[in-house]
Amino acid sequence: MAKQNIFDNETFFEGYKTIRDKEGNANNLFEIPALFSLLPDLKGKSVLDLGCGFGEHCVEFVNKGASKVVGIDISEKMLEVAKKENSNPAITYMLLPIEDIEKVEGKFDLVISSLAFHYVEDFDGVVKKIYDKLNEGGRFIFSQENPINTTYSGERPRWTRDENGKKIYVNLANYAREGERESEWFVEGIKKYHRMFSTIVNTLAENGFIIEKMIEPIPTDEILEKFPDQDDLFHKPDFLLVKSKKN
Ligand SMILES: C[S@@+](CC[C@H](N)C(=O)[O-])C[C@H]1O[C@@H](n2cnc3c(N)ncnc32)[C@H](O)[C@@H]1O
Repeated sequence: MAKQNIFDNETFFEGYKTIRDKEGNANNLFEIPALFSLLPDLKGKSVLDLGCGFGEHCVEFVNKGASKVVGIDISEKMLEVAKKENSNPAITYMLLPIEDIEKVEGKFDLVISSLAFHYVEDFDGVVKKIYDKLNEGGRFIFSQENPINTTYSGERPRWTRDENGKKIYVNLANYAREGERESEWFVEGIKKYHRMFSTIVNTLAENGFIIEKMIEPIPTDEILEKFPDQDDLFHKPDFLLVKSKKN
């Protein structure tokens, strides 16, 4: 089946880039701090970043002492920015789908992926390949949209609101129906893949990973003071982060 490459769509790319360039975006407030809190000591370590996008994390891994970083992505446009803005002699960027990581040479101490797996249909197949790409005792750390978010298909309003338009609760439907979801974000027809929380955990366990920590980020008081709308995250977390170890 053809893999989606939505980040090469001009309209989507420009919309996504505008959001990422904004200081108070959800990545900067929640996902990136949580992801980096899970990192092991990277001094002298090798890192494979799946769906590396603009390569911002790859540079940070080098700054934290990684001796070799490979960033792969399916999008030429994302990699163009990565090569222009985040190049470094220790980093190699490759145009490659996550599903084909066996084509990357060598093994790694850390395989990491930030907000790309909800675009991947065959999570089990990819997790098996990640296990093979890791050195003994290596870490596999990833973030993805929270399963409560990927359940949503855009068919009905995401929130139930009171008469003043204030959000009261999230409309959750079809959580236990896994698989493809289509939604709209800058463009129509964006495909994502919904998996239950138990499926994600069991896929890791059945493929030889020990789960060390999970995070579903919520706002601190300081963040709430500056961005009161982020109170939404107490109703439904947007992200799920997992740190695991090759057994
Ligand atoms: C939301 S962006 C995140 C980029 C980067 N990891 C970050 O956090 O800044 C998702 C990235 O995953 C890439 N991606 C999506 N599906 C992919 C696939 N099947 N193989 C490789 N990359 C993929 C997209 O092109 C995009 O660059």
